Amino acid sequence: MSFFSAFQHRARDEELMDRPDCDPGQLFRTLDQFHGVNRCFSRARGLLRRTVLADMQPGQPRHLVDLGAGACDLPVWLLAAARKRNLDLRITAVDADPRIIDYARKRYGHIRGLHIREGDALALEAHAPFDYLFANHFLHHLPDEAIPALLAEAHRLCRRGFVISDLRRSPWSYLGFSLFARVYRDSFTRADGLTSIRKGFQPRDFQDLPLTLRTQLPGRIQILGGCFQ
Ligand SMILES: C[S@@+](CC[C@H](N)C(=O)[O-])C[C@H]1O[C@@H](n2cnc3c(N)ncnc32)[C@H](O)[C@@H]1O
Repeated sequence: MSFFSAFQHRARDEELMDRPDCDPGQLFRTLDQFHGVNRCFSRARGLLRRTVLADMQPGQPRHLVDLGAGACDLPVWLLAAARKRNLDLRITAVDADPRIIDYARKRYGHIRGLHIREGDALALEAHAPFDYLFANHFLHHLPDEAIPALLAEAHRLCRRGFVISDLRRSPWSYLGFSLFARVYRDSFTRADGLTSIRKGFQPRDFQDLPLTLRTQLPGRIQILGGCFQ
């Protein structure tokens, strides 16, 4: 198989950070580095401004669930952005990894409106009722078989809408990130980032589903449902 044709289908490789026995120091450094990756490349803040924050009105309390929330830098930013706009937002940040939950609670357990919960994102009903669902760089952790069911649950349970941002499976993203990510040392950021791009998505992966899809540089795919469609 050539380098380019390998991007026709999603890879199934395990990420180093998902191994229960991975080095905790490298895991926590990876989580710290996600903060910068999210700020510089994920486009998640603009996406949340255009969707969730634009949809909210002062005086209307809303609940958002963030799936695969990691160290929680995005929910913490979103709560601050909502507060600045005088919006009443509460966030449940869900992650399946107890080491990551501990780490997030130590950093952000004191933030008002943020509830950090250990749990499987696929058991979405456990967090209902909620108005919005958000996930950044989470969906590619799931196998193909789990994704349509999760999106159907999101449609069923979200009272307003959902916004999922992930990586576009592209050889150009892979080459670009492999060069840039040499700056990330002593962590899983570069290796897992490259694996994640191979496990990412192309718009045709969702073609039969009732969703709005957007692509954005650098190498993002955004999946919008409910009132954001
Ligand atoms: C690449 S990290 C992204 C973290 C965060 N959303 C961010 O943007 O920085 C993916 C996260 O998804 C979590 N995860 C993977 N599978 C999960 C599942 N089935 N349920 C909940 N969390 C899961 C991992 O533990 C990890 O923290």
